[in-house]
Amino acid sequence: MTAQEYETVKVEREDGVAWMILNRPEKRNAMNPQMHYEAEQVINQLSLDPDVQVVVLTGEGEAFCAGMDLKEYFRALDNDPTEQIRVRWAMRNWQYFRLRMCPKPTIAAVNGWCFGGAFTPLISCDLAIAADEATFGLSEVNWGILPGGYVTRDVSMVMRYRDALYYIVTGKTFDGKKAADMGLVNESVPRSELRSAVMALAQDLKKLNPLTLRYAKDAFKMSRDMDFEQAYDYLAAKNDQLEFRDPERGRGKGIQQFIEDKTFRPGLGPYGRSKE
Ligand code: COA
Repeated sequence: MTAQEYETVKVEREDGVAWMILNRPEKRNAMNPQMHYEAEQVINQLSLDPDVQVVVLTGEGEAFCAGMDLKEYFRALDNDPTEQIRVRWAMRNWQYFRLRMCPKPTIAAVNGWCFGGAFTPLISCDLAIAADEATFGLSEVNWGILPGGYVTRDVSMVMRYRDALYYIVTGKTFDGKKAADMGLVNESVPRSELRSAVMALAQDLKKLNPLTLRYAKDAFKMSRDMDFEQAYDYLAAKNDQLEFRDPERGRGKGIQQFIEDKTFRPGLGPYGRSKE
C-alpha cells in the first residue's frame, strides 16, 4: 500500500519535499485511532524513501490539528483498555520516536487551528513555520484534564517557563505571530505565503550534506539532556562517526575548498557538493 492510499493522512510530493497532510478536515484534523495507525505507516515510509529529502507536516483545510479526537480517541476507548494501549503505542511511535528522530529534516507548517495533543507532533518537527492567522491553544484545562501524552513535557522544552505555565493554566489561545515571538515556531508568515516560505526553507536544507544534517539534529536532541562532560565526549565521538561514515567526505572537501581551492567560505554558505 502506498502512502497516497491512506484516508486520514495524505502525501503530496514536490521537488524532493514530502508534505504529510493530516486529512480529516471536517473534524479539524483531530487525531482518531485510524489517523495514528496510518500516520505511523506514512512516517515510516517517508523516513526510508530515498527520494524524500525533507518532510513537512501540515493539515488539510482550515486546521493544522485540533488535538486528540475527544470522541474516538478518548471516550470510545474509556472502556477498552487493550485498544487504548495499542493506539497509544502507535501515537507515541509516530509522533515521538519516528517524527522526532526522523532521518530527514522535518518542518511543521501550522496552517490553522493547533490544539492540545497537536503540540507534540508540532514540537517533534525540527523546525516550524506558522501562518500568522493560525490559532494555538493548550485547551485541556477548559475540559477538566491537564496536557497529557508528551504535551506538558514538550512545551517545557520549547516554551519559556512563564509562557508555558500561562497557557497551560489559562487555556487561552494565541496566534502565529505570538507563537513566533515565544519561540514555539521559528517564524510566522501570512497564510497565503506559508507554502512558499516552507518550500524556501526546505530548498535551503536540501543544499546541505544530508548525513551531516541528520547527525547534527540527532546530536542536538540527544546531548541536551546530558551533563557537559558526557555531551563533550558524545559530540566528539559523533563527529568522528560522521567523518567515518560520510559518503561525501564533507569535512575534507570543505577544508580543501577553503584552504587550497579558495572557492568556499564556511561562514557564508555550504561547500560545493558536486560528486567526485
Ligand atoms: N475531537 C473530536 N472532534 C473534533 C475535535 C476534537 N478534538 N475538534 C473538532 N472536532 C469536530 C467537531 O466535533 C465537529 O464535528 P461535527 O461536525 O460532527 O459536529 C467538527 O470537528 C468541526 O468542529 P467545530 O467545532 O464545528 O469547528 P469550528 O471551526 O467551529 O471550531 C475548533 C474549531 C478547533 C476551535 C473546535 O472544534 C475545538 O475547540 N475543538 C477542540 C480543540 C481541543 O480542545 N483539542 C484538544 C484535544 S487534546
